[in-house]
Formats: sequence, C-alpha cells, structure tokens
Amino acid sequence: MINICILGGGFIGRFYAESLIGRRGKDTVKVVYARREETAKRFAEDYQVDHFTTSIEEAITHPNTDMVLIALPNYVHEDAVMLCVKHKKPVLCTKPLGRTAEEALRMTLACEEAGIFAGYLEDLCYTPKFLKSVKSIESGAIGRVLWAKSRETHPGPHSDWFWDLEKAGGGAILDLGCHCVEIARNFIGKDVLPVEVMCWADTQVKPIDAEDHAIGLVKYENGAIGQFEVSWTFRGGMDLRDEVMGTEGTIWINSFLRTGFEMFSSGLGNDYVAEKAETSAGWLFPVGDEAHELGYPNMFIDMFEAFENGTQPRETFYDGYIVNAIVDAAYKSAKTKLWEPVELPVWRGKKGLKKPSVYKEYDAEHWFIKEELLPNGDKKLIIKHKETGEIVEKRVDKKNQA
Ligand SMILES: NC(=O)c1ccc[n+]([C@@H]2O[C@H](COP(=O)([O-])OP(=O)(O)OC[C@H]3O[C@@H](n4cnc5c(N)ncnc54)[C@H](O)[C@@H]3O)[C@@H](O)[C@H]2O)c1
Repeated sequence: MINICILGGGFIGRFYAESLIGRRGKDTVKVVYARREETAKRFAEDYQVDHFTTSIEEAITHPNTDMVLIALPNYVHEDAVMLCVKHKKPVLCTKPLGRTAEEALRMTLACEEAGIFAGYLEDLCYTPKFLKSVKSIESGAIGRVLWAKSRETHPGPHSDWFWDLEKAGGGAILDLGCHCVEIARNFIGKDVLPVEVMCWADTQVKPIDAEDHAIGLVKYENGAIGQFEVSWTFRGGMDLRDEVMGTEGTIWINSFLRTGFEMFSSGLGNDYVAEKAETSAGWLFPVGDEAHELGYPNMFIDMFEAFENGTQPRETFYDGYIVNAIVDAAYKSAKTKLWEPVELPVWRGKKGLKKPSVYKEYDAEHWFIKEELLPNGDKKLIIKHKETGEIVEKRVDKKNQA
C-alpha cells in the first residue's frame, strides 16, 4: 500500500484522486497541497484526505507521504521535482514534464542522481485500447510501423495559466502534442531515434502569443514517420484519435468522441457529458468511465507496481525529456519553416538504424509490386524487372489460377 500526496487541487489533481479513490484499490491519498486553503480543504473533504496544507514542503515531508504526485501548472514542475529530490521522495509528474527539454533533462538527471523513483504521468499511453494496440504491434500483427498519427483537439484549456506563454511554455503543441508525440513513439519503438521535425503552427482564433493549432511530422531513424495534429480551437468536444499504418496491417483508435456510446437528449437533466463536451442537448457522445478510458487507473497500477518491484514504469522522466526535445524542435521548425534536428544531449536508445528493405521477390528476375483480384475473378500481378527497372503487369485468368 502506498500513501500518496497530491500537489495541486485543480483539474488533473481531481482526476487523479477520482482514479485512486473509490475503486477499492489499496493505495490512497493521504495528503493534499493547494495554494489556496479553500481549494485544499474542499479537495480533502471530497476525497476524504486526512491532511491538507498550503505549504508545498510540508506536504512533501509529511510522515504519511510515501510518494508525491505533481499536478501543478507547467512552470512549477521543476521546482516541485527539485523539492522531492531534496527530501528524497519518490515522485510522479504530470505531462508535459518540462516547458523545455532543458528543464526536463535537469529533472530527469536530478532524480537519477538522487536515486529516487520518477514516473511520467502520460495517461494516454495507458488507455485500454492503446495498451492492446501496442501488444498487437509488438507481436508483429501489423508488421513494421511506417506511420503513426495521433490527434488531440478540443476547444481549449480550462485555466488562465495555460494561455500564458511564459507559464505554460507553449500552446497546443506542448499541451496536447506532448501526448501525441509519446503515443507515436510507443507505436514506432521508444528505442528508435527521433531525428528531425517539420511543423506548421499558427494562432488562428485566440488572442494569445502561443499557437492554438498545429500539425507536425517527426522523422525517425528507421524511416518511420510520426504525425501530430493538435488544436485548441476545435469545436465539438475532445477528439482523441490514433492511426497506425504498418507493412502488414492498420490500427485505428477513437478514444473519446466515438467510444460506441451515443445518446440523444432534449437538454434536460445532468449538464456534464464528458470532458470538454460543448453541449448537453442533441446527439451526445458520453464516455462510460472517463478516468479508465483516459488511462489513469492503468497508469497508476503500472507506476505503483514498478515502485514496489524496484523496476522502471512504462513511462519515465527520461521519456518526458525525449518528448520535450521533439516539441522543442517542432517550435523551431514552425519558425524557420525547415526540418529541424531533435537535439538530444542524452540518448539511450539505438543508433545507426537504417530504413530496412522490404522488397519481395516474384521470380529470379522480378520484384513483386502488387496483386489485385478483379471483379471478373481474374488476377492482375504488377512486377518490376530487377535490372531494367521496367514495370509490367501480368493477367492471370480465373480458370488458370492455382
Ligand atoms: N491528461 C493529462 O495528463 C492532463 C490533463 C490536464 C492537465 N494536465 C497537466 O496537469 C498540470 C495541472 O493542470 P490542471 O489542468 O490541473 O490545472 P488547474 O489550473 O486546473 O490546477 C492547477 C492547480 O495548481 C495550483 N497552482 C496554480 N499556480 C500555482 C503555483 N504557482 N504554485 C503552486 N500551485 C499553483 C492551482 O491553485 C490549482 O490547484 C499541468 O501540467 C497540465 O499540463 C495533464
């Protein structure tokens, strides 16, 4: 059993508490910190937390704090992590780990040097659909991953600090793209080096300094491509979708707006439908168990089991640092309009990978390109001569097919 201290009584702190409490789990929240006393008190009442405080250091050093869970705005992550390092408390931090890779690397190395457990709370890499997809990919079910696209778009975040470039460290790319980048890394292979990034970003709607809409491509050393699509100006709720294309198959995941649950309401009754839903009337797309479908319970199980077993969780601070480095390159590219290298002063994965050849031989002289069954039952074979490069097609009559 682990006694948890949550730093931050806002949106994500409450989601974390919902995921930990009331599921008959053995781990429980014992301490909560919030800046304002009324927030801390309300949180403690809502989730039956024994101790609340407005002192961050008191929360971290409390005798009932076995592990600290950081649910604070981006600009406070580093200070909070460093306090955990100072007091040698195991720590979990929400996404994005840092505002920049520089911040994230400092946090990662400080925890490693102090020998404290550090987990990166990337919930979307723990949804039931995502975990099953990764398992299928690992078993070879879709072959070699060529392209992994992830999209997160919604009508914009719920607190002032997100919209402040200095406090948040970025706009939609950092806030939402950090999820998408890590999702694609998991599909492509976390030990595959991200090489360079091309990104378009713009502020299309909101009166802010940061971008509210962006699309980016991340090139990996093995030839795979990651793609992120993010927006704070999307209308119609929260759209979370992933798409993976492999040499032997395809995966499409829809995690939020279309989960197989559709409902019509004239608008009477409960107003809350799902996170960032914009209406409670008409055809609605509710989400059965939001915390579970967003990955939180699976994420905490992985974190706590890793901590107790002395192993690493699926998502570590190091992963958070790699994500920040890719996001940094995206910001550079959006300015220069060029492919920008991903700067990784520390890289622990593979190096020197090449795009593998997947040429299939048709016969001694030809490469196979494609076979297609036609409506009349004949087959067409498209092949390429190995030496001349000539591409020809062969038709095989229905009656001559083996
Ligand atoms: N899916 C996810 O994993 C997910 C979703 C939402 C937010 N987040 C992340 O969680 C973090 C917090 O976001 P949120 O949505 O809960 O924000 P929020 O504004 O709802 O809550 C933030 C909390 O931190 C407190 N706070 C604000 N400024 C502070 C300061 N300077 N020092 C100490 N405390 C301060 C606030 O009082 C509040 O209790 C962010 O890093 C955000 O990116 C993650």
